[in-house]
Amino acid sequence: MVHQFDAVIVGAGGAGLMAALNSAEAGRVAVLSKLYPTRSHTGAAQGGIGAALGNVEEDHWEWHMFDTVKGSDYLGDQDAIEVMCREAIDTVYELEHMGLPFNRTPDGKIDQRPFGGHTKEYGKAPVKRACFAADRTGHMILQTLYQQCIRRGVTFYDEFQVVDLIINDGVCVGVVAYEMSTGELHVFHSKAVLFATGGFGRIYKVTSNALALTGDGVAIAYRNGVPLMDMEFFQFHPTGIHRMGILITEGARGEGGILVNSEGERFMQRYAPTLLDLAPRDMISRAIYQEVAEGRGINGEDYVYLDLRHLGRELIETKLPDITDFVRTYLGIDPVTEMIPVQPTAHYAMGGIPTNVDGQVVMDEKNTPLPGFYAAGECACVSVHGANRLGTNSLVDIVVFGRRAGRHMAKTVREIGFHPLPKDPAARVRDEIERIRHNNGTERAVEVRQRLQEEMMNRVGVFREEGRMTEMLHILQELRQMYAKVRIDDKGRRWNTDLLEALELGYQLDIAETVTVSALARKESRGAHSRVDYPQRDDVNFLKHTLAYRTENGPRLGYKPVVITRFQPQERKY
Ligand code: FUM
Repeated sequence: MVHQFDAVIVGAGGAGLMAALNSAEAGRVAVLSKLYPTRSHTGAAQGGIGAALGNVEEDHWEWHMFDTVKGSDYLGDQDAIEVMCREAIDTVYELEHMGLPFNRTPDGKIDQRPFGGHTKEYGKAPVKRACFAADRTGHMILQTLYQQCIRRGVTFYDEFQVVDLIINDGVCVGVVAYEMSTGELHVFHSKAVLFATGGFGRIYKVTSNALALTGDGVAIAYRNGVPLMDMEFFQFHPTGIHRMGILITEGARGEGGILVNSEGERFMQRYAPTLLDLAPRDMISRAIYQEVAEGRGINGEDYVYLDLRHLGRELIETKLPDITDFVRTYLGIDPVTEMIPVQPTAHYAMGGIPTNVDGQVVMDEKNTPLPGFYAAGECACVSVHGANRLGTNSLVDIVVFGRRAGRHMAKTVREIGFHPLPKDPAARVRDEIERIRHNNGTERAVEVRQRLQEEMMNRVGVFREEGRMTEMLHILQELRQMYAKVRIDDKGRRWNTDLLEALELGYQLDIAETVTVSALARKESRGAHSRVDYPQRDDVNFLKHTLAYRTENGPRLGYKPVVITRFQPQERKY
């Protein structure tokens, strides 16, 4: 079946919905989502959205910009960071006017709390910059934007999984999607396509990411010739529930929670004497690994405690209600009276599909746009997060760049007509689906996936080293051979999750390979990329972005310069 829309948006999280809302004024817009939209992963972003409103204490977007540049370990592009920090303010007010129920100060303004790496006066002390709705900020953004999209007449195709991009004569002209309830392939023909498909935390064993985050959009772009940028930078959030990885918001530390080791020591005093438990995530995650390695994990195991008890029942239950529920439900403990066992959890991809500040996907070191193709949110790399993202900046990123991409798409679709589709655009993916459906091999997708997640966690996680990553590349080859022999039991068409999981595993393997190859080549430590064999940051050789291009023989790497405007690289101390 072929559908025609002026713009097609893939993914119904905050970036996709913001883009839909802003492009809808120019024509007919469809949003395709493999989930029911309000189940998108934006709903899992808990503690806040950063914007220098200055409602609780003095703040300026320039301070926000400085913190983001420093947090990125100077790898973020400063032109894009400036756009983000300036526009964050107006975007938060726009969300407020749409009805988003932010917490309020006593005089009725949007309330703000401190978050990791956000400071006043260029690093002097923590500042209250995160605007929040209890610990459900992302959830509220999602609900608010979804309602607005319905009001504007955006068409939703729920539980439609995108399986290919359609490019004809160098122009992106649509996507192919798989309708999960019927197994039918649909072609969506459009003037502009935006990917807002989220991250790929599911390449790791312990992750805060939902099951859906298998990197589909990123891998599909890669398979269609788009290089992937800065894939080596993957953020581990310091406070995932031990073993499960479920996020315990940094907002808990913003409200005064502290991390302690087996000796009851507030160990962040030794690692970040100024910002303590509100240091950036890369530093705290490494500190936890270090404490564990030196024998100060709780009960000799791989976790530490997050202590909220001194905050009192009233604050915990009113400002942190969701995480309180999670801890009571999943651990059977009460954070009002007991400490929470936490460990770093794979949380956020700083890298992804390269774009400019209007969301246009760029294809090379010269930033040449691919006409008709856009990306925004975690699947994209603008790059505002560089080597390490600050907490709250994911929500800023999705709304600011979702809005900018939507506006650019609106302009594009007004100016151009439909470029033709190629002959049988679904042929390639139909063949791949039938290959998986009829494969009589001996391997199980679940086993390949579990091995992938375990090995990536151990070899390309918080700490990295040449030998172990080289071994990972051999393991990936082995896993690819196994993947070619994956057999599924369900041969049917309706709700065939067996088939979709096998398809997703192919994406996960592609992504894991680009992460590993990019990480091996970066012989320095910067932000979330910490090489035990190259412990120093090396600005002479590596102050540059990685681009991984797909070839028959695996990823080929290229590089492009970092944009530096206001802040020259300095030593990163907190
Ligand atoms: O800790 C958190 O609430 C997560 C927020 C984020 O990743 O920005």
